[in-house]
Amino acid sequence: MIDKYIFSKRLTELRNKCGLSQSKLADMLYISGQAVSKWENASSLPDIELLLPLSQILGVSIDYLLGSEKDEFKNDSDTICEAIRGYDVSDKDINILSAMSSIMPREYLYKTAKYMEKDLLEYKLTLELTSNLGGERNSYRQDISLNAYDKNSILPFSKHISALTLQAINKNCNPVQEIIGLMKCPICGGDFEYFKTSEEFISCKEHKFYINDGVVDFKTLEIHGYTWSSWIRRYDDYKKNNVPKIDESIKDHIRPFSESKSWLADMLYTLKQSKPSVILDIGSGMGFFAAQLIQYIDWECVLVLTDLSHRILKYDKRYFDETSINPNVKVVYLACDVCNLPFKDNSLECITSCGGYDCVMTDFTNSMSESHRALSENGKIVFSIGLIGNREDENVQKWLDLIKADTDPDMLQFYSQIYDIKEWHEIIKNLGFAKHTLIQTETEIPVPDTDVFPYDCMIGRWMGSANIVAEKL
Ligand SMILES: C[S@@+](CC[C@H](N)C(=O)[O-])C[C@H]1O[C@@H](n2cnc3c(N)ncnc32)[C@H](O)[C@@H]1O
Repeated sequence: MIDKYIFSKRLTELRNKCGLSQSKLADMLYISGQAVSKWENASSLPDIELLLPLSQILGVSIDYLLGSEKDEFKNDSDTICEAIRGYDVSDKDINILSAMSSIMPREYLYKTAKYMEKDLLEYKLTLELTSNLGGERNSYRQDISLNAYDKNSILPFSKHISALTLQAINKNCNPVQEIIGLMKCPICGGDFEYFKTSEEFISCKEHKFYINDGVVDFKTLEIHGYTWSSWIRRYDDYKKNNVPKIDESIKDHIRPFSESKSWLADMLYTLKQSKPSVILDIGSGMGFFAAQLIQYIDWECVLVLTDLSHRILKYDKRYFDETSINPNVKVVYLACDVCNLPFKDNSLECITSCGGYDCVMTDFTNSMSESHRALSENGKIVFSIGLIGNREDENVQKWLDLIKADTDPDMLQFYSQIYDIKEWHEIIKNLGFAKHTLIQTETEIPVPDTDVFPYDCMIGRWMGSANIVAEKL
C-alpha cells in the first residue's frame, strides 16, 4: 500500500531541493498545477504513468519516491533528456546538461537549463598552442564550437563544463549571505546585513566591510615576512610553489580518529561523522587543508575560510574557483582576526584548523578561547597542531636550548608557545572544553649536531604533531 503522506512529504522536499515551483513541475509533466498541489497535500496520488517522468525529473528512483529508504537512481543521459523536458533548450545544450548530470545536483541543472532557455550561456572550447621556435615563444588560439560534439564525445569535458557553469551561475550570490545571521560585527557586535549594489559589502548599523575579489575584508593585515608571505608575492608564485595538492589516497584511509596514522584522514573522518552544515576553518591561508575539505565533503556545507591576509584568501579563492567543482560546498572567504571572530556566541557547530592555531602570533590560546565562545553546545573543534611529546626528553631539551639561544624576538615568541602533550591536555581543559581526544601523529626529528637553530622559515618543522578533537559541553 502506498502511503500518501510519505509520498507528499518526499515530493515537497525533492521539488524544493530541485528549485522547482509547483507550476513548473506541473508544466514539465504536462498536467495542471492543482494536481501537484493535491499530491503535496496528500489528498491524491499521481497516475502510474507519471511516476517514471516524475522520478527522472526529481533525480530519484520510483521506489524512493514511494517511500523506500534506498535511492538507487541511474543518472544516465537518456534520463536527463527526460528530466529536462519542459525546458526549451537546443540539442547541443541537452548534451551539455547531460555531461554535467553526473556532477551537478538537479537544482543546478535546472538553473542552467533556465539560463540556456534565455540564451544567457554560451559554451565553446578553446584550443591553445604555444610554440617555442627559434627561441621565440608564441601562442596561437582557436575556438571550437561544441555543435560538433555529441553527448558521448562531450563527456570527457564534464568536470570543466560543470566548474565553469557553477562559477557563472553563482557569480552574483556571495555565499556569505547564507551565514549572515550567524555573524556579528567584530567592532560593535551589531547584526550584519549583506548588500550588493554597485558595491558589495556587509554592514551593521555602524560599520561597513567591503567584499573585494569575493573576500570579505575586515581590514586585518598579514604578518609580513612570516611563513609564506615572503615567498608568495603574486598568484603565479602561489600556483608554482603552493598549489594545494589533493591526496587522492586519503579516501582509502578514512577511519576513526584513534585508529588512523594519517592526520588528514583522522580529521576528515571526524567531520564526516557529524556532517556539519557550516565549518569554520582557522588560519586557512595557502589552502592545503581547505583543498582537501572541498574535495571530500559529500554533504551540503558552507565552508568558511579565515586568514589575516586578504591577499592569500584572494589567491585561494581564485585557485578553488578554477579547479574545485564540488557543488555540495559553498566557500566563504573572511579576511579577519581569529582572536576576534565575526561570529555570535554559540553560533557554530564545527571549527577546524590545520596548523592555524599554532601560527597565531599573539598567545594562541586567545584564538582557541574565541573559538570556544563561538561554538554551539556540543560543537566541536577538530584541529592539528605542532607540539612536543615530552619536555623532559633529551632530544627535545636540545632543540629548546637551540631556540632559547637564538636572539630573534620571533623565536622568543615561538619558544613561549611550545607545549608538550601533558600541557596540551591541561590547556584544552582550562579553555572549558568538556571532553577531548589527543592523538600524536608525528614525533620530533633528531636534533642535528649544531649550535645554531637550523631553520629561518617554517620554524616548527622539527616538532612533532597531534590531532585534537575537543567538544564544548
Ligand atoms: C600555517 S598557515 C595555515 C596553513 C593552512 N591551514 C593550510 O591548510 O594550508 C597559518 C595561517 O594562519 C594565519 N594567521 C596567523 N595569525 C592569525 C590570526 N590572528 N587570524 C587569522 N589568521 C591568522 C597566517 O596568516 C597563516 O596564513
